[in-house]
Amino acid sequence: MADVYESMLSNNVGRSILSSLNLPVPVELERHSQAQTSFVTGNVLLGAAPGGRVMDAITQTLKNSTANVQTPDQGPTLADIKAAGDKAELHITPVTTSAEAAKFKALVFDATGIENSEQLRAVYDFFHPVIRKLNDCGRVLVIGLPPESCKANPQQQIAQRALEGFVRSVAKEIGKKGATANLLYVAKQAEKAAESAFRFFLSPKSAFVDAQVLRVGKAKSMDAEFNWNLPLKDKVVLVTGASRGIGESIAGVMARDGAKVVCLDVPQAQDDLQKVADRLNGGTIAIDITDPEAPRTICDLLQAEYGGVDVVVHNAGVTRDKTLGGMPDKFWDMVININLSAEERINDALLEKEVLKPGGRIVCVSSMSGIAGNFGQSNYATSKAGVIGMVDAYAPILAKKDITINAVAPGFIETQMTAAIPFATREAGRRLNSLKQGGQPVDVAEAIAFYASPASAGVNGNTVRVCGQNLLGA
Ligand SMILES: NC(=O)c1ccc[n+]([C@@H]2O[C@H](COP(=O)([O-])OP(=O)(O)OC[C@H]3O[C@@H](n4cnc5c(N)ncnc54)[C@H](O)[C@@H]3O)[C@@H](O)[C@H]2O)c1
Repeated sequence: MADVYESMLSNNVGRSILSSLNLPVPVELERHSQAQTSFVTGNVLLGAAPGGRVMDAITQTLKNSTANVQTPDQGPTLADIKAAGDKAELHITPVTTSAEAAKFKALVFDATGIENSEQLRAVYDFFHPVIRKLNDCGRVLVIGLPPESCKANPQQQIAQRALEGFVRSVAKEIGKKGATANLLYVAKQAEKAAESAFRFFLSPKSAFVDAQVLRVGKAKSMDAEFNWNLPLKDKVVLVTGASRGIGESIAGVMARDGAKVVCLDVPQAQDDLQKVADRLNGGTIAIDITDPEAPRTICDLLQAEYGGVDVVVHNAGVTRDKTLGGMPDKFWDMVININLSAEERINDALLEKEVLKPGGRIVCVSSMSGIAGNFGQSNYATSKAGVIGMVDAYAPILAKKDITINAVAPGFIETQMTAAIPFATREAGRRLNSLKQGGQPVDVAEAIAFYASPASAGVNGNTVRVCGQNLLGA
């Protein structure tokens, strides 16, 4: 069936009819293009609460962009921000934020210095005069301290935890502009390790990542020669379920970032798989991941042909929906086996045989269903919540080997899977988020590429939703 809503959105008359009916008219999201040389462009307004610790790191990061960095022309931290800019050899212009002409691509606030609830006022003071001056597809980024690291000071822990409510509400207010708000909790001494996260959240690569909280821990920062344009150069990446949909897009983004991509899918998908691999100059493994021989076969092949693997992306997944009372046991078994148990077995083999190299990355694909649950998906939601459990359980264990494990939890993504959903349900799923639209497979792929980068060594144990702040769930 033709998608009436989408076709109305594609022309001005249709858009004004929808708008006059008070129906959602989403802004077309800006996404990364190869022509783009700077991760952020335009005016970036920087602010900080007194005692903030990330100003040096953020100004160093912004120095590598073409952004015009500005700071409010009054406030207690003006001198600190100027000093951080001078240290980074970054020219920062003071601006009158009340001026009509002021417009911003990004509003970045260092809230790490906030120690009690009264000091939360600094967040209001910074954002209140400028939030309406955020451009379409703009970015709000708040940086705080992980509340759990503030246990010695309960007042500080409370105030840092409060930032989540602020960011999630702001995201709901600015979503109609295609703009996003996210919160980065940066641990003490992890400031430099946060560069990849600063870049990701300020760039169009995070177009559909909205109202999320990401934690960055201590790690070695990247040396000055690190190639941010080809972060996965000389790396071998395995992507499961790569013959189509989100997996195909992940494989493409990994290859764009310089990786040798090994594309895996079931033998029945061999033709499509080969086409994807040929296009990316990658390799293939045609195997069902639930085959008892799969872990050994995958390990042997990766070791023999590529000398091991640097990044494993567990993307292969299926749904077999039925309400619990009517669900045949084979639906339960199949979904748990493909979406969860097979991943565990493959991880065990890769780690035991040390095929996943030190400094490696495991990235899992969970789902909003795994966070919020979904009608008719008790099997799928169990498997996808289990994936989040796998990240939680293994992150501290793998950290000892310099390996990270993280997950993305996509919301409504435009794929063959979601195109098959009946029109009314599909429209509800697609529009019920702050950005009023479905995400693209590339949005999931970009978040995975961010986790996979060698520069994201401090990003471990996170599950980030790629859902445009879906109105369901946490
Ligand atoms: N599309 C969405 O909106 C959405 C939302 C949340 C999560 N996800 C998750 O994202 C991932 C990709 O979804 P998609 O929409 O691209 O689905 P898709 O059905 O288009 O692709 C899944 C791929 O996995 C492969 N696969 C399935 N079982 C396999 C097995 N046993 N061994 C090897 N390969 C196998 C399939 O052949 C297929 O190529 C899945 O894990 C899915 O659960 C998707």
